[in-house]
Amino acid sequence: MYLPQLLARAEKGEKLSVLTCYDASFARLLAENEIDVLLVGDSLGMTVQGHASTLPVTLEQMIYHTDAVARGASGKVFVVADLPFGSYQKSPEQAFESAARLMSAGANMVKLEGGGIMVESVRFLSQRGIPVCAHLGLLPQSVNATGYRAQARNASEAGKLLEDAGNLENAGAKMLVLESIPSVLAEEVTQRLNIPTIGIGAGPHCTGQVLVLQDLLGLTPKPPRFAKDFMSGAGNLAAAIRNYVSAIKAGEFPGPEHSF
Ligand code: KIV
Repeated sequence: MYLPQLLARAEKGEKLSVLTCYDASFARLLAENEIDVLLVGDSLGMTVQGHASTLPVTLEQMIYHTDAVARGASGKVFVVADLPFGSYQKSPEQAFESAARLMSAGANMVKLEGGGIMVESVRFLSQRGIPVCAHLGLLPQSVNATGYRAQARNASEAGKLLEDAGNLENAGAKMLVLESIPSVLAEEVTQRLNIPTIGIGAGPHCTGQVLVLQDLLGLTPKPPRFAKDFMSGAGNLAAAIRNYVSAIKAGEFPGPEHSF
């Protein structure tokens, strides 16, 4: 699937369901159960590799997992791959070289974390045919600076996030992940932008929602507030995934208990 088909769904007012995915078997299963977007997240550093953060994940590892996911998805689902820590922050040229390798491995879009500092890289990639998903709010690659806590909870940080979101869209970003920010702020960003916003811990008003697969499957020992175990009571994997998709499409997930 290509970007115009995905954006058409959002333009029709359909909520987008996004789930992280790291291998071919799950990619096939998620494609069969109507997930709109597979995110090969660098969260694989925690979920697959057992690290305490996403920082140790390398570009070679992201390429390996993107290749596996793209083969499992076999063109039926849109695939977004994360640019890992250290593979893009130096310059737009470095971002292009890393992003090109993920696109060659089968990604349809790359995701990078950060606000104003990333605007030039987003423009550079977009002008060269690489669709970019930006990521604002809690930035897991910046955990050493911020810790894992909700972001933009005061007026000045909220204003900065709104400004960054507009600048990233103007630079060519085609999607925006909003992580762990107040619902009212995510609602305002979603209203102001024309591109889809994908929330995780950002309330129900985003264009779509994303969860980490292991959180949805109830495999995370201490799940974050925004996670929901869809496996509990579902009976099998396919039912859990379908329940997640239908809860998003119906606007039933996330609830206030998953939001800030
Ligand atoms: O790596 C990841 O799983 C992510 C999501 C938390 C959005 O970036």
